[in-house]
Amino acid sequence: MKFLVLMLFVTAIHAKHETYSGWKSFFVKPVNHDQLSKLTSKIEEFDLDFVSNAAVNREGVVLVKPQYQVDFLKFLSDENIFHQIHSDDLKKQFDIDDQKIEARKLATRSVNGGRIPYDNYQPLDVIYEYIDKIAENYPETVTLVNSKSFEGRPLKYLKISKDKFASNKPVIFIDAGIHAREWITPPPVIYAIHKLVENVTEPDLLDNFDWILFPVVNPDGYVHTFERQRMWRKTRSTDQNVLSQICPGVDGNRNFNFFWNTIGTSNNPCSDIYAGSRPFSEVESRTVGEIIEENLDRMILFITVHSYGSMILYPWGHNGTLSQNAFSLHTVGIDMADAINKLSLPNFPNYVVGNGMLILNYAVAGAAEDYAHYRGVPLAYTFELPGLRSGFDGFHLDPIYIHQVCIETWASFVVGARRAGELYGRRNL
Ligand code: ARG
Ligand code: ZN
Repeated sequence: MKFLVLMLFVTAIHAKHETYSGWKSFFVKPVNHDQLSKLTSKIEEFDLDFVSNAAVNREGVVLVKPQYQVDFLKFLSDENIFHQIHSDDLKKQFDIDDQKIEARKLATRSVNGGRIPYDNYQPLDVIYEYIDKIAENYPETVTLVNSKSFEGRPLKYLKISKDKFASNKPVIFIDAGIHAREWITPPPVIYAIHKLVENVTEPDLLDNFDWILFPVVNPDGYVHTFERQRMWRKTRSTDQNVLSQICPGVDGNRNFNFFWNTIGTSNNPCSDIYAGSRPFSEVESRTVGEIIEENLDRMILFITVHSYGSMILYPWGHNGTLSQNAFSLHTVGIDMADAINKLSLPNFPNYVVGNGMLILNYAVAGAAEDYAHYRGVPLAYTFELPGLRSGFDGFHLDPIYIHQVCIETWASFVVGARRAGELYGRRNL
């Protein structure tokens, strides 16, 4: 009987991730702007999928389908672009990653029941269970807001405040998980909830600010990455286009109403950067937009968390120009990055700070942080969390490092909030 169960388990594992059989991933490191531009110019031709963003002198990780591997490698050697194999079969790598998550579950079981959502990559129900429990246990400070995703799942975020948002304090907003596969991003936002209500070491943060924390903006996509396709990025909507039944989903971070669908997007529903049929077509990005609108005169810091790249990016992402507020954006960005770099591990890259388009070398229209800034939030950032560097063998960051990412990222939230308070905390009083 035991053997049978084991066999079933093994077969189930092997059937999983089959779509990625034969896919490879590579580290690529452009050493100058020219190489970086050449790399980005090949994205469409070779259907490249950058899961970790390359920048000048900063290694990225790119997924390559079997039919493009030969030509892609030829291109890299012709252009003399440094590269190195990351995984020579993605399906195998994902199977190994699954085992690491299981191992981590076992290791944490005796300590905390194995169901703490900032200690491991956890399924949606474990995250929601935690959010519900926090709202239940701390009713004086925590309000659970619940709407519905495209597929009808609860879309949950928390408002955390000493007086239920009654006293006009400045508001700090942080979200994660708008891109489904970026599993490292919900944990630091959940950890922030933990640090604001369960394990308070910085009491000024609740004395001086009200918080809105939204750990999984795209729950449909998130569940899809656990159950079906590990590399799914978009939402799961099917009502956007005639093709959306075959190719569901919209890139949530191209769906905001800011220069919508003008650059760095696609009109093809089958593309991973499909902008949708109209601005805010997706209930998930629309919910973030509504939160911005509801708190317009109070929100002073907006952070949307992505992965990977060890970067803090700020507007404008669609054309690389700087906003009126660029000096503050840059200096507060540096303070946040410094806080992370101080606590970071030797095998993690240092953070870079800068304009999103100039750092990444590609333009993006309809992104969340640009929209928030355009609506008037003085400090708006995209974080790209650390991970996937030579020396890390997993596809995603090994779950043993999640706690580290939570701790260092929390330090940056603390600094960001305090600096935002100094600069803009009194603007509406
Ligand atoms: N990796 C993110 C994306 O492609 C980066 C967006 C950065 N934001 C920006 N406005 N440039 O969605
Ligand atoms: Zn992302």
